[in-house]
Amino acid sequence: MFRRPLEFLKSLPAHGDLVEIRLGPLRAWVVCHPELVHEMLRDTRTFDKGGTQYDRLRLLMGDGVVTCPHAEHRRQRRLVGPAFRPSRVAGHTDLMAEEAEAVCRAWHAGQRVDVSAAMMAMTTRVISRVLFSGSLDATRSAEVRRCLADVVRGLFVRTVVPLDGVFRLPTPANRRYRHAVARLHTIIDDLIAERRRGAARDDLLGTLLESARDDGGTMPPAGEREVHDQMITLLLTGVETTALCLASAFALLARNPEAERRLHAELDTVLAGRTLVAADLPHLVHTRNVVTETLRHSPPGWLFTRVTTRDTRLAGHRLPRGSTVLYSPYLLQHDPASFPDPDRFLPDRWLPGRSAPGPRGAMVPFAAGGRKCLGDTFAMTEAIVAVAVIAGRWRLRRPPGPVERPRPAVTLGPRSLVMTCEPRACGTTVSPARADAPAHRGDGALRVPEARTAGDHDVDDA
Ligand code: HEM
Repeated sequence: MFRRPLEFLKSLPAHGDLVEIRLGPLRAWVVCHPELVHEMLRDTRTFDKGGTQYDRLRLLMGDGVVTCPHAEHRRQRRLVGPAFRPSRVAGHTDLMAEEAEAVCRAWHAGQRVDVSAAMMAMTTRVISRVLFSGSLDATRSAEVRRCLADVVRGLFVRTVVPLDGVFRLPTPANRRYRHAVARLHTIIDDLIAERRRGAARDDLLGTLLESARDDGGTMPPAGEREVHDQMITLLLTGVETTALCLASAFALLARNPEAERRLHAELDTVLAGRTLVAADLPHLVHTRNVVTETLRHSPPGWLFTRVTTRDTRLAGHRLPRGSTVLYSPYLLQHDPASFPDPDRFLPDRWLPGRSAPGPRGAMVPFAAGGRKCLGDTFAMTEAIVAVAVIAGRWRLRRPPGPVERPRPAVTLGPRSLVMTCEPRACGTTVSPARADAPAHRGDGALRVPEARTAGDHDVDDA
């Protein structure tokens, strides 16, 4: 599990649909069958957020919408959720395109760039503009990225080793982790304090502070502590995941010239070198399939825990109250029974009428049910925009040498990905909206569907 977690996970289905493993002194069950994962994710009351992963995350993020127990969840989701509705997300398309264009402008022909670092910087700027209207200046933004990298590195081992004493030792790694956590909290506190002193703004921090004032509205107000917890929660969940998805997408495209060629052809037709706007999104069908296939092949969130809140049964096994249960999007999405040739990168499997998205519960990069990712539409939009803008201008090439094997931490994806930039000559004429384009709302809002549709080329909601 520690040395080769992906191989280990892939070996489990041979032992059954629900497999018992031991993590040090802790017994845990890994759910290996998509239908069972579907069943578990639907029953958020019985299979609540918990287990070592969420216990550790709570120490880091407090009790925000990611980590809070079932009893608190509905209220929190109503508080934070509106900011991530598809119509609100569509309104952020321009700023996402601006930030992706800034990445393109910073590169020059023949330059070697660390694509992972560039994507982290870009997603930090995007989320910071959405959460706090960009109050994170360049220096603090760079510090946030450094801290996030240290936190992510230290978090995985903490989530699978349920022994606190080890992490209290004064080792360099433990000190680095603690320092990074402390700095992130201080930065969030400073941002909140600055906002209180300054003018009100129409961003998520503004909404939460407004709610904390308790104006006698219909919803119980967010407490002072909660404002802090929600902000750090969204910063931690909103930066790394999308950045790793993008880095994985560029790595996979470089290894799959046919998929890359089709992507370029689509971008040259739909965008033809002009700035991307929200109304373009429904026309970027192959781009979307590239992102969806990346999320299947290399899901940034690859392993999650739940804890049972009562005695229950799953796959005919009795699970006593307090049992730790794990599910892995990586395991499910690499099951050849659901996705033939699972290790191959095949964006076309998401074309309508093809076999994807597999059975219920098989495609869960954003989870499913009541605790499904709140930022799924946001992440899909940001990833599609960034792939379209960057691949429209630059062809990213891997320098010769062996392909690094994935080393999952709390998230999965290339933590450092050095690539060479080759400029692309793309068309300059503005192409009119195509008459045969798929139907979409006028606001260009992308949707991650709420119900599974056979042959739909979208991400499945189990
Ligand atoms: C490609 C990018 C992303 C991926 C793959 C991803 C994946 C996931 C997954 C799998 C979960 C469920 C975890 C579990 O079952 O324990 C989740 C939850 C969550 N994600 Fe994401 N996420 C992404 C981007 C984002 C972004 C951009 C945001 C917001 C800024 C976000 C906010 C959240 C929140 C708030 C939850 C908790 C939802 C709840 O419990 O109600 N995510 N995400």
